Amino acid sequence: MIIYSPVYRTRKPSYTVLLVMSIIWSLNVKGAEITCPSECTCRTAFDPELGQILRIVCSKGGMHNIPVEFFDRNAEVIVISAPRDRPNFLTIGPIFTQPTPFVNLRELHIVNSNVPSIGQYSFWGLQHLRLINLTYNNLTSIGADNFRGLISLTELNLDHNNIEQMPSETFRHLTALKTLILSNNRISTLVPRLFRMLAKLTFLDISDNPLEDLNPEVFKDIQHLRLFKCRRCLLRRINTQIYHLVAHLEELDLGENQFKYLTSDEFISLKKLKKLRLDGNQLSVIVDNMFGRNRELRLLTLAHNRLALLAPAALTNLTSLVHLDISHNKIDRFHLQTFAPIVETLKTINFSGNNLPLNEIAIVLQILPDIHSVGLANLSLKEIPPNFFTYNDHIVGLDLSWNMFTKFPYKLLTKTKFLQHLDLSRNKIQGLDEEDLQRLEAIAHVDLSKNSWRCDQCSVGTMLVFMTTTVLNSTIRQLACYSPLRLRGTKFSDLTFNVLDPCPSTHEAQMSVIAGLMLLCIAVLSAVAAALCCTRRRAAHYYTNEEKRREHEHEHPEELLSRTEVGSVATIHAPYHTVPKSR
Ligand SMILES: *[C@@H]1O[C@H](CO)[C@@H](O)[C@H](O)[C@H]1NC(C)=O
Ligand SMILES: *[C@@H]1O[C@H](CO)[C@@H](O)[C@H](O)[C@H]1NC(C)=O
Ligand SMILES: *[C@@H]1O[C@H](CO)[C@@H](O)[C@H](O)[C@H]1NC(C)=O
Ligand SMILES: *[C@@H]1O[C@H](CO)[C@@H](O)[C@H](O)[C@H]1NC(C)=O
Ligand SMILES: *[C@@H]1O[C@H](CO)[C@@H](O)[C@H](O)[C@H]1NC(C)=O
Ligand SMILES: *[C@@H]1O[C@H](CO)[C@@H](O)[C@H](O)[C@H]1NC(C)=O
Repeated sequence: MIIYSPVYRTRKPSYTVLLVMSIIWSLNVKGAEITCPSECTCRTAFDPELGQILRIVCSKGGMHNIPVEFFDRNAEVIVISAPRDRPNFLTIGPIFTQPTPFVNLRELHIVNSNVPSIGQYSFWGLQHLRLINLTYNNLTSIGADNFRGLISLTELNLDHNNIEQMPSETFRHLTALKTLILSNNRISTLVPRLFRMLAKLTFLDISDNPLEDLNPEVFKDIQHLRLFKCRRCLLRRINTQIYHLVAHLEELDLGENQFKYLTSDEFISLKKLKKLRLDGNQLSVIVDNMFGRNRELRLLTLAHNRLALLAPAALTNLTSLVHLDISHNKIDRFHLQTFAPIVETLKTINFSGNNLPLNEIAIVLQILPDIHSVGLANLSLKEIPPNFFTYNDHIVGLDLSWNMFTKFPYKLLTKTKFLQHLDLSRNKIQGLDEEDLQRLEAIAHVDLSKNSWRCDQCSVGTMLVFMTTTVLNSTIRQLACYSPLRLRGTKFSDLTFNVLDPCPSTHEAQMSVIAGLMLLCIAVLSAVAAALCCTRRRAAHYYTNEEKRREHEHEHPEELLSRTEVGSVATIHAPYHTVPKSR
């Protein structure tokens, strides 16, 4: 046990102070090992870098001053925080530096404490301090004098305040700073030379500020930036001079802004870019060669835009791409050659929430043999043909949520041997039989919630048996009945077999239902036959031409692609698509 000797301020203690001190002493009956105010906890812990460190945590909330005179001056970490609904109301002057500074202090968190301002020279002398976290306070302006003397500070968190004003050179004393978080403030302009002396800055987050525009001048001082986030900044465009200045950028997040159009040379300077998030904008097209110079890009999200089209050469040179999210757009068809550059590397693709028919997705999936995870949510799917993933042996994750499945896609899922994540929530499935449940047992993460579970003995009887005896128990317990009305909302965990209605309908009723169904079938079949003759021959061909598929099973899709000239897509998939849809 490390013994910490108490160091008290020498000013005359007030009565409340004396009271608190007596509480402390009475708590430390074995002798003053670590002094600690009653509203805090003070513990030594092991830190891999620093060895034994003393951590003081005051997190009960409702504080009006920091009982700093009772803190051990050797503390390495101080955390003053509060529950959301019980904030502190604090001011911070030079309390950590006078009369003697906390010389060992490495981290200081003062969070959710309504701190209105920092004060001059507040941290003077805390030369080992590496992190200051002032998240969730009420700061409205900050200036250079607030940060004097913080020569070792590498991380400064000022997010969730009300900062409007930051003059030039605000951070000039923080020459070691690497991470600066200014998100969720009210900053409307970044003044020139704001970031002067921040040559080491690698991570800047200014999301959730009403910036509308970014001045390139500002980025001259932070040319080593690796990660830049400006989500929800009301941006309509970016002066590409900025990208030229921060050419080492590896991660760029410009999600939920108001970009309508990006030129083909937009990201030409960002040759090191690995992650690019452009989701939640208003882009209607990704033009040819847009990412031609971003050969290291691994993640691209274009979700929640207005894309109707990915141009045929939109993904040119993206030969490292692993994750592509094009969900929630207005895409209704693809150019197959769009995907040619990424066939070797792509592992996850999200098609959810587009206007895509299944066969458009099928032709893309068959050239992506290494795909691990597929998003097919919100596509109004009623079913998926059993051979849909014939070319995708490695599927581990599958999102089929928010569709219209009425039956569990058992046959489809017998082919996805490695599936570990399955989301079938928000469909219209009424019940699962033994076969379905046995398939589900082999899948580690299953979501079946918000289906139309029909709580009678026929539909969910077997599920109740599995609920009590198998690994599916926790998955099934959480489900709720949809029908009959008297059981709607009842959790499966509260159901017993006895409360379920017996299987519906007598023999006669069944017979009349069957007769009705047969009539319906004949009608549907003739309609389908008519439809097949006239339209969409390709789709029909794809699902039925099983023999020809088999012949080509061992052929690699890349080979199929490379055998043909780019542009002559029609011939690439001749075995499966003899009649390409006219575009
Ligand atoms: C700052 O404090 C907030 C609230 O306690 C916490 O969520 C966040 O992780 C902290 N930041 C750092 C860098 O420790
Ligand atoms: C936070 O700052 C604003 C603007 O200065 C002020 O109007 C408000 O009263 C402050 N809130 C608290 C809780 O101090
Ligand atoms: C693709 O990359 C190559 C090699 O870096 C480069 O020569 C070519 O211009 C790039 N294509 C486009 C469209 O930028
Ligand atoms: C799309 O799917 C991927 C995984 O398949 C997931 O990580 C991502 O969050 C999804 N995108 C949206 C917008 O839901
Ligand atoms: C499906 O669409 C709904 C409504 O737009 C949305 O709330 C939900 O997040 C979407 N789910 C997925 C998985 O895309
Ligand atoms: C059911 O789940 C609980 C935890 O959710 C687990 O402790 C228990 O062993 C499970 N029962 C069976 C039969 O798997």
